[in-house]
Amino acid sequence: MKKLTINGQVHDVDVPDDMPLLWVLRDVLGLTGTKYGCGIAQCGACTIHLGGVAVRSCQTTMDMVEDIPITTIEGVGDTPIGAKVQSAWLEKEVVQCGYCQSGQIMSATALLTDNPRPTDTDIDDALAGNICRCGTYVRIREAIHSVTV
Ligand code: FES
Ligand code: FES
Repeated sequence: MKKLTINGQVHDVDVPDDMPLLWVLRDVLGLTGTKYGCGIAQCGACTIHLGGVAVRSCQTTMDMVEDIPITTIEGVGDTPIGAKVQSAWLEKEVVQCGYCQSGQIMSATALLTDNPRPTDTDIDDALAGNICRCGTYVRIREAIHSVTV
């Protein structure tokens, strides 16, 4: 049995050490806001925060996460910066189909936590691993620039 702290709640899960966290979130705990895209750390749809750092949950196994707080898209709005990012996303109408946007918001929140005034280059570098098939990159930049941390 493993103990996970996700969005401030403790969960006991009986899963193998090598199971990807994304599987546990979606299939064991029903936290389906985090999306499966590629499964090989190439698209960013599965991005979560592990100890405050944006990581790809499809390539993060259970033996890597015990005792480290996890935040997902379901909980990021309860953090001060995450709430501002979500408001900015709504104000700038960033979302198109929406599939990539959980990951985009998690990466944007991690960026703004580390760097309150990122340049376009900072944004492009930080979100380079978050692919958007709908091409919402310009609105993502606008939304991040509009957040006052
Ligand atoms: S599903 Fe994890 S990076 Fe694509
Ligand atoms: S909004 Fe459709 S993939 Fe990004």
